[in-house]
Amino acid sequence: MTSHSDNQKIAGVVGWPVSHSLSPRLHGYWLRKYNIDGNYLAFEVKPEELGGFLETLPAKNIIGLNLTVPHKEMVFPFLDEVDEVARRIGAVNVITVRNGKLSGSNTDGFGFLANLKNNAPAWSAQNGPAVVIGAGGAARAIIVSLLDDGISEIRLINRTRERANRLAENYDDPRITVCDWQGRSGMLSGAGLLVNTTSLGMTGQPPLDINLSNLPETAVVYDIVYSPLETALLKQARSQGNICVDGLGMLLYQAAPAFRAWFGQEVSVDQGLRQHVLSGLDHEK
Ligand code: ATR
Repeated sequence: MTSHSDNQKIAGVVGWPVSHSLSPRLHGYWLRKYNIDGNYLAFEVKPEELGGFLETLPAKNIIGLNLTVPHKEMVFPFLDEVDEVARRIGAVNVITVRNGKLSGSNTDGFGFLANLKNNAPAWSAQNGPAVVIGAGGAARAIIVSLLDDGISEIRLINRTRERANRLAENYDDPRITVCDWQGRSGMLSGAGLLVNTTSLGMTGQPPLDINLSNLPETAVVYDIVYSPLETALLKQARSQGNICVDGLGMLLYQAAPAFRAWFGQEVSVDQGLRQHVLSGLDHEK
């Protein structure tokens, strides 16, 4: 048990719904591991009540929040400041309260890249183009992180092409090329990275149907889905000899900078954390 005091620092996750969030389990592990006088709670807040809820944070001793669906994109008007990365992504997943002021940031892209670099150390942005499947909120965080890391080319493929076009226009970066959904398997030639940012492959969803035979064996295949950990896409990629990265690590790594900002503690993403969070996933089944 974490010890309690009047000065206990409180952080948490806000969502609607929020009961399936793994964040309390994740941050709870670090609070115990580093013996911090703090707590991390889940707050179920309706979209129309978000602004009112955020006004009460300083009085409640809440030092920071993670935001999840549907709040990440609608929170901007309620914040005193938002950093540049969150602005470019168009979403905030971390709020930090300092001197009564609310600052928004986004660590999803950081988490994506940290997970990639830690689990596929041979990967570098210089290895070749990235093929990104999907054009939703997750794709935006991933695209910003890859552009900032120096990727030479992003081939963006989405079922609804218009949405991919809008995303590309928004970033207005010549390295982003929009490709056709039907031609996705043909776009893998020479790629250094293939990322699934959609929900395809998640339990209860159809798999991502893609033929990997054109993908170089040296390419990394990264699925942001983590339930199941080994999606049909990763299974297929592994059998072809590609290095595979699953989505659980992205969740773990995005949490580390937020924890440091709130509780002032550097944390590591270790096997103990991964197992602890995984057992939370098992409980849900
Ligand atoms: P998130 O914020 O998690 O990225 P999102 O904004 O709802 O979620 O985006 C979901 C992504 O998964 C989109 O790229 C979506 O494609 P569309 O823009 O065509 O809707 C993609 N997606 C979801 N279900 C899909 C399916 N059955 N086939 C292909 N793409 C799918």
